[in-house]
Amino acid sequence: MSKTEQTLSIIKPDAVERNLQDQIKQEFKNKGFDIIREKKIHISKEEAERFYKVHESKPFYNDLCAYLSSGPIIVITLQKENAVIDNRKLMGATNPRDAEEGTLRKKYGISIDKNSVHGSDSIENAKIEIEFFFNN
Ligand code: CDP
Ligand code: MG
Repeated sequence: MSKTEQTLSIIKPDAVERNLQDQIKQEFKNKGFDIIREKKIHISKEEAERFYKVHESKPFYNDLCAYLSSGPIIVITLQKENAVIDNRKLMGATNPRDAEEGTLRKKYGISIDKNSVHGSDSIENAKIEIEFFFNN
């Protein structure tokens, strides 16, 4: 059974730098997502470290946090039925090289680190991530 969910998307610095945000937002809308909230922000390295704490032990953690805080990002709350899984499908594989044709990372991603978009990976994490950026 499908039900309305929310998920967090981030348009990462590489995509904002190339001014791809309107195109990417249109892709969400075309797939039936409603944009509930959005804001353009530039987070600190410390905030990025808190956001990606789950990856703390990974070898790429430091570079990942430096990267996410390297320039402006757009954080977006998306809503539709099965939003979490459908956004993951729309994004494609973490490495743009492995992403399927038509996915955001295939179309816009540059490399595994500069892969243009973040999306929550579970309903539970979506709630935590939305709260992280829109906690008012
Ligand atoms: O973003 P996604 O959930 O697909 O992947 P993840 O495994 O949760 O990793 C978070 C982010 O770390 C990825 O989106 C990549 O930008 C980055 N990463 C990396 O730079 N090098 C790796 N080997 C794996 C991930
Ligand atoms: Mg992830």
